[in-house]
Parts: sequence; C-alpha cells; structure tokens
Amino acid sequence: MDRAGFATELWEGNGHPVLFAERRASTPQARTVLIYGHYDVQPVDPLELWESPPFEPTVRNGEVFARGAQDNKGQCFYSVAAVSAIVAMSQEIPLNIKFVVEGEEECGSANLHKLVQTYADRLRADYVLAVDLGYHSKLKPGVTLGTRGIGTFTVKFRGATSDLHSGTHGGVVINPNHALVKVLSSLRDDDGTINVPGFYDGISPLPDDVHERLNFEFDAAAFASETGAKPLGGERRFSPVERAWTRPTLEINGIGGGYTGEGFKTVIPAVATAKLSCRLVADQDPIRVVRLVKEEIVRRAPEGIDVIFPESDQAGHPVQCNPRSWAVRATHRAYEEVLGREVGYIMVGGSIPILAELTQVSGGELAMVGLGLGSDNMHAPNEHFGLDRFRQGFLIVGRIIELLAKSQA
Ligand code: BES
Ligand code: MN
Repeated sequence: MDRAGFATELWEGNGHPVLFAERRASTPQARTVLIYGHYDVQPVDPLELWESPPFEPTVRNGEVFARGAQDNKGQCFYSVAAVSAIVAMSQEIPLNIKFVVEGEEECGSANLHKLVQTYADRLRADYVLAVDLGYHSKLKPGVTLGTRGIGTFTVKFRGATSDLHSGTHGGVVINPNHALVKVLSSLRDDDGTINVPGFYDGISPLPDDVHERLNFEFDAAAFASETGAKPLGGERRFSPVERAWTRPTLEINGIGGGYTGEGFKTVIPAVATAKLSCRLVADQDPIRVVRLVKEEIVRRAPEGIDVIFPESDQAGHPVQCNPRSWAVRATHRAYEEVLGREVGYIMVGGSIPILAELTQVSGGELAMVGLGLGSDNMHAPNEHFGLDRFRQGFLIVGRIIELLAKSQA
C-alpha cells in the first residue's frame, strides 16, 4: 500500500491494531470510498484434518488452501491488488480511497468499536465497501444486501467447589451438567420458537425494495452436498432461506463439563460451561437480547447452582444496504460486467460485527462485496479460495472504484 502511494498507519488500541490507509485525489471535490476488511482468522483446530499446513498457502485444483484464503485475507489481498493496479494505470483517480483492515473481526471487533469513535473524522466517506462476503454460487451469483447481527456470551453453572465422587455424592447434590442442559433446552420450544420473553420485540420486516430483489428459493441438493445435514433446525414456520436471512436464532456453540476423554471418570463436575450466540435481525439490539437471555437463564437455574457469566461478550448489529444507492448499483453493475452473466441479490446469515457502526460513523452508503462460496470451508479445516475468484474479485473491486469515481449513472 505504501508503494501504491497510500499513507498507512497502525491504530493501536487494547487489542490487535487496525491498519488504516489513505490515498487522496488531487481534485478537492473528489468523493471518498472506504474499503473494509479483516486480517484476523478463526482458530485452525482441529489441525490434523488439514491436508496442508494452514499457514502455508498451497494451490490444489486451482484453489488456494490456507486459513484466511477466503475469510478474509484473500479478499483483502485482491482489494489491495485492484487499487494498486488502478493507481499504476491511471494518471489521476478522482476518488479518495481509504482502507480500514482490522484484526478482531472474528472476536467481535472490541478494539475497533472504540477506535471508530476516536478516529471518526478519518473514517468519513461517501461509500463503504465491505469486502468480506460471498456471492451464493458461480452459476447464480448474487450481491449481498444484508447481514445478521450477533450477540455471544459464555455461561457457567457451578454446583460445588470441586468435582465430586459420583458414588459418594450422586443423588445428593445437583449435577451442573444436568441443570445446564435443562435450562438451555428450555430456551427453545419444539417448533423452534425462542422461548425468552421479549426476544422478538422490535423485529421489523425487510423493506419492500430489499425483499422484492431477493430469491428465497432453497437449493436442497447444494445444501446437502455442502453440509451433509438436513435443513430441519430453527423456526419451523419459516422456509430455510427465510430462516437464514430474516429470522433470529439462539444456538449453543459449545458445551462442556465433567469428563469426556478416553475411559471413564465417575464424577459430578463442579462446573458446566456453555457458549451461546444469537443471530439477530433488524432492529434487534444485541446487548439487549443478550441481557434478556441471561436474565432468563438466571431465573430458570435451580437452587443450588451459581450462575456465572464471564465477561467476554461479543456484539454486532444487523446491517442492511440500500439497494437503490449508487454504491449498491455500481457494485451490482461491476459484478454483471466482470462475471458476464445476470447477477441477483442475496442476504447472509453471518455477521460482520463492526459494519453498522463503521457505516454510521463514515456517513456513507454501504455496499457488500465478496466472492465467497458456502463450499470454501470458512472457519473449518482446509479453507480455500479459487484463483478464478481472486481474478474476478480483483476486476470487480477495480470496476467498482472506476464507477464510483464517476458521477452516478
Ligand atoms: N466473513 C464472515 C461473514 C460471512 C459469513 C460472510 C458467511 C458471508 C458468509 C465473517 O468473517 C465472520 O465469520 N463473522 C463472524 C463474526 C462473529 C465471530 C462475531 C460470524 O458471523 O460468525
Ligand atoms: Mn469469518
């Protein structure tokens, strides 16, 4: 980025620093685009399932295998490459270009939540491109119009000061494992409705101009081959795609307590632990929803159990783009030109925790960009991203920049 004429800075906070880079146009009236990405990744475990080392990118069958190949180093890479190429090709680009690349997206962007306020002036922009998304499929590509929000937390049920002999104490004390699974399973009804008072308050339906652009068709064959699972979870009264894009969830992401290793240990564990997350839709507030769920867990925990919530919560608001904005129209046009086929619109069930605040602080129009596929093994062993998509992403970001540098059409 230095070589491409950017002024680069690291914004230090309490966690991983944020890279900020800026290249000003010489025309004072030029508009500004802010490109967002992240350089952190999810843990690589289980390591033994990787066919090549996660931090040594390896090309097999036209795909780069590495942690972050898609989410999000690969997509950052083609964005920087595109902008560098445009800079090298052009006498003058009538657009100010900024990058903000953070290192805590995968754990809730705690650092950036504070830094966006500190550096609000520097983040001013007319357009925000979040290049951390997918495009549904190669044959039926789509531009993303929204992400879900997220609230995560950990809960511990403590019954005793130490693990207890299950013979000596079995049938006498409360087993925290049992107490925890009972309370957690009570948080959902059999039809998938989330049974927490107030959980659904404030949800608004999708705006018409978003809804009418989306295709809610469910590709059962692609789903089966990608996941090996059946689409039978969540709120039964909604279709699978509606559930993924427009409905909130409550999930146990991890649970443990007692002994699950080799052999057998006859204990009543002192502590049982679970990690939960809720995916949220407009206009649910993640902090409020997490508070409601925690309050309900405390209310339902039996006497004899101490409920503990270690402080490590993550929160992000749901985000929607305006499909009529120039940022989204230019993005859609760039996809169609580069891919050479009709491009639709999609939403995504995943989250980018900082996006709502970043967009708000920037004052700009948001467009979502990316060429991820459900089959890329994002967050899993053998994550990969295609060389064809590096090229397409490079061309799409380049074309969006060209279009945004012109006035709207
Ligand atoms: N790039 C993803 C978001 C995403 C998911 C885009 C699926 C397209 C399809 C992002 O890096 C991500 O994984 N976010 C986390 C945030 C969480 C850990 C706070 C997520 O959604 O789980
Ligand atoms: Mn991710």
